[in-house]
Amino acid sequence: LLNTTIAGYEFDNCLMNAAGVCCYDHEELTMVDQSSAGTFVTKSATKTSREGNPLPRYQAVPLGSINSMGLPNLGLDYYLDYVRQLEKQTKKTYFLSMTGLSKEETLEMLKQVELSDFKGMVELNLSCPNVPGKPQLAYDLPTTENLLTEVFAFFTKPLGVKLPPYFDIAHFDAAAEVYNKFPLAFVNCVNSIGNGLIINDETVVIKPKNGFGGIGGDYIKPTALANVHAFYQRLKPSIKIIGTGGVKTGRDVFEHILCGASMVQVGTALEKEGVEIFARLSQELTEIMQEKGYQTIEDFRGKLQYL
Ligand code: DHB
Repeated sequence: LLNTTIAGYEFDNCLMNAAGVCCYDHEELTMVDQSSAGTFVTKSATKTSREGNPLPRYQAVPLGSINSMGLPNLGLDYYLDYVRQLEKQTKKTYFLSMTGLSKEETLEMLKQVELSDFKGMVELNLSCPNVPGKPQLAYDLPTTENLLTEVFAFFTKPLGVKLPPYFDIAHFDAAAEVYNKFPLAFVNCVNSIGNGLIINDETVVIKPKNGFGGIGGDYIKPTALANVHAFYQRLKPSIKIIGTGGVKTGRDVFEHILCGASMVQVGTALEKEGVEIFARLSQELTEIMQEKGYQTIEDFRGKLQYL
């Protein structure tokens, strides 16, 4: 009932984790793999491992979360080796998230993945807001186009991009025009809303960047849905949409799919609730579909109605 397809790759369930949540090491990744989720995405890897920013760097609040992790990760080799090992045991397709700290590093990492026997998809992260001195790449469209031109000159495996939220119709138009130039498997909308500020009494709640961090959860669902639908309207049909942002109920999953998402990721709510959330969301989405008489997600995907 909840199966889906991206770039010809099939998934039994349209739900998965959002990069950064429950995906730091093989223990966390195995928990997602063995849950009701259709697959997982790894923590965004850099070429070599990183400690990340000083603690506290993640805080949940009633309406969502703020984080400034700073890309703590175990390095590309760790995630690539783990996923290649899993691929020998199952038929599932896995997502490897990565982001170089420079164009050269990104290209070098992608060359390594290209030369490996990795069979899954790459989610190239163009939107990390938390490394001091490194702006969110996908807000600079000429630099993004230049990077993707160099990537697709040699990279032949399925690759998509994780995007930051855009907030203006002119930016949706300009961004979609760039992404449509490339054979992307998917775009993932959205990463956290970058550089928000949450205050408790008189004080910030995370240490890095004097409290500025990426916002997730309820705060960002309307922005996420708008980005999913804006790109669904503008991208060529071969580029699928992964919807991410503010998903904590089956109804939220339903709305992302209605806006055009082929797969839906869960971040803040997964961090709060644990991997059992995938069974709950699957059950809640199934109930909505049964009430409405939908047999597959293709029956309503992208069919948002207008007044
Ligand atoms: C981090 C946060 C992000 O939103 C992202 O896309 C990548 C990394 C981080 O702070 O670790």
